[in-house]
Amino acid sequence: MCGIVGFTGNHQAAPILLDGLSKLEYRGYDSAGIAVRDGEGETTVIKAKGRLRGLAEKTNGGESVPGTCGIGHTRWATHGEPSENNAHPHVSDDGNIVAVHNGIIENYQELKDKLTRKGYTFYSETDTEVAVKLIDYYYKKYEGTPVDAINHSMVRIRGSYALAIMFRDYPEEIYVARKDSPMILGVEDGEAYIASDVPAILKYTRNVYYIGNMEMARVRKGEITFYNLDGEEIEKKMKVIDWDAEAAEKAGFEHFMMKEIHEQPKVVQDTLNSVLKDGRIDLAEVGLAEDEIKDISQIYIVACGSAYHVGMAAQYVIEDMARIPVRVELASEFRYRNPILDPHALAIVISQSGETADSLAALRLCKDHGIRTLAIVNVVGSSIAREADNVFYTLAGPEISVATTKAYSTQMMASYVLAIQFALVREQITEEQYTGYIKELQTLPEKIQRIIDDKERIQWFASKQANAHDTFFVGRGIDYAISMEGSLKMKEVSYIHSEAYAAGELKHGTISLIEDGTLVIGVLTQPDLYEKTVSNMVECKSRGAYLMGMTTFGNYNIEDTADFTVYIPKTDPYFATSLAVIPLQLLGYYVSVAKGLDVDKPRNLAKSVTVE
Ligand code: F6R
Repeated sequence: MCGIVGFTGNHQAAPILLDGLSKLEYRGYDSAGIAVRDGEGETTVIKAKGRLRGLAEKTNGGESVPGTCGIGHTRWATHGEPSENNAHPHVSDDGNIVAVHNGIIENYQELKDKLTRKGYTFYSETDTEVAVKLIDYYYKKYEGTPVDAINHSMVRIRGSYALAIMFRDYPEEIYVARKDSPMILGVEDGEAYIASDVPAILKYTRNVYYIGNMEMARVRKGEITFYNLDGEEIEKKMKVIDWDAEAAEKAGFEHFMMKEIHEQPKVVQDTLNSVLKDGRIDLAEVGLAEDEIKDISQIYIVACGSAYHVGMAAQYVIEDMARIPVRVELASEFRYRNPILDPHALAIVISQSGETADSLAALRLCKDHGIRTLAIVNVVGSSIAREADNVFYTLAGPEISVATTKAYSTQMMASYVLAIQFALVREQITEEQYTGYIKELQTLPEKIQRIIDDKERIQWFASKQANAHDTFFVGRGIDYAISMEGSLKMKEVSYIHSEAYAAGELKHGTISLIEDGTLVIGVLTQPDLYEKTVSNMVECKSRGAYLMGMTTFGNYNIEDTADFTVYIPKTDPYFATSLAVIPLQLLGYYVSVAKGLDVDKPRNLAKSVTVE
């Protein structure tokens, strides 16, 4: 959600904070602020509503705010409307404490009432201001160290938080506390950095520490000390991030989304290669042994948004190929419905960020039930990656565009790999089929590239659809799962109302919405279901719909039905999702561009949803 950056060292802090925030703006972008301090001087707090450039202009790129220690924040509003007043950093009544915060404090009203009774006043509607004043209260009450004040506050706060705090009495130091909200800390050349996500500080250091849940840290120039909730020092191992900084830049593309669409052949290949040894799948790194695979009674796939759509497509493949029952669940529903869980099941949690609050809670729920958990995750060291029993890392690299593309494609590849390996181990496919499937997977990157190379055709169609009001994506089986992702891409970046429907369901109600000119996109990659979906498209056409049909090369009779056609290369129908999703990503992208929208940062969204 929101983004946090902090720095203490020998350079000027403000330009580093603004630079780091610019890499995190995708996480939240309704306001931004920094707090900077020069030695023992007073802290300067500057905030601006709207995009980061407002703050950059106000501070002359950071140059007008001298000081070598500071914290910064980009906000995605949870408590309190987007405004300068609600923007972070927030300060205590006497300016003694300044802090930025990611997450949600669930009992903020109760804490606010308590603090009001103690004489505190509040200037904003945020839960963060409550946290700042609570820390101030304990700091004064116990006259102890910052760590004492923070840990007293941590036991009172319910919810999730990553906090970066500066105390007037401790110049050149930043204190950090974390529960269920990501935060990393880095050191380099006698300086220190903090950030809620790797790209913010990658330019400055790759040596990072991950702070654990309910832990604190004191950050000084070139030195970081970690503490547990009892205030005792704890040891942490430094990790080296191997993403290069270039990967988090636009590399000549107009938008990150387009850059990331173009990266798909490579990252899909990398993800596949990471589990291939001598042409065979090797899950040793993932940590799934053959006996364990044989014992799986059923699979729960739990995820949110696009990752859930990956699960939907994976369900068809795993059930059909490996004959293991699969249930796909929205993490936000699963976690609260007291599900009946089979202890011999495998829970697969899919997440790009590895920080999605609902997915993390679902993972914990499964673990509490003694169910083995496997995470398909992109961000190394993220909460889900750390807490899952097994991790299958997708190698998508940093995904900056709020709308996912390349992470989705790598998650899809990871799912195919699991399906094929499970099918072999459980003797559901022959050796010949096994090698055939792996060979087919190896062709996907090149086929994805071919679709991308033909993007102008989609661009032309998108420019004609920019004024569409409603779009329906329809398909059956795997094509329905593809439709779900296509529909989400369309609505989230182009703000066109769109729905995905199982094609056979249209006539049970939804078809009444079809009128003259309504855009209906039929996804037709599954040979067994092709004719059925075509019939459903014809039903829409006879009610006035304008039809786009997407199918594989060779199915040219679709031209008899559809007004506009898109062909994708042939592949095994199991793997069609990986190809069919590409034109739909491009469609969402180009409609958004044609409408002049902010493709990489659609309104109301945030990249990593660390609140419920
Ligand atoms: C849509 C999109 C979201 C995410 C969802 C889960 O383009 O990106 O729907 O897929 O918020 O996020 P992760 O994968 O980080 O758990």
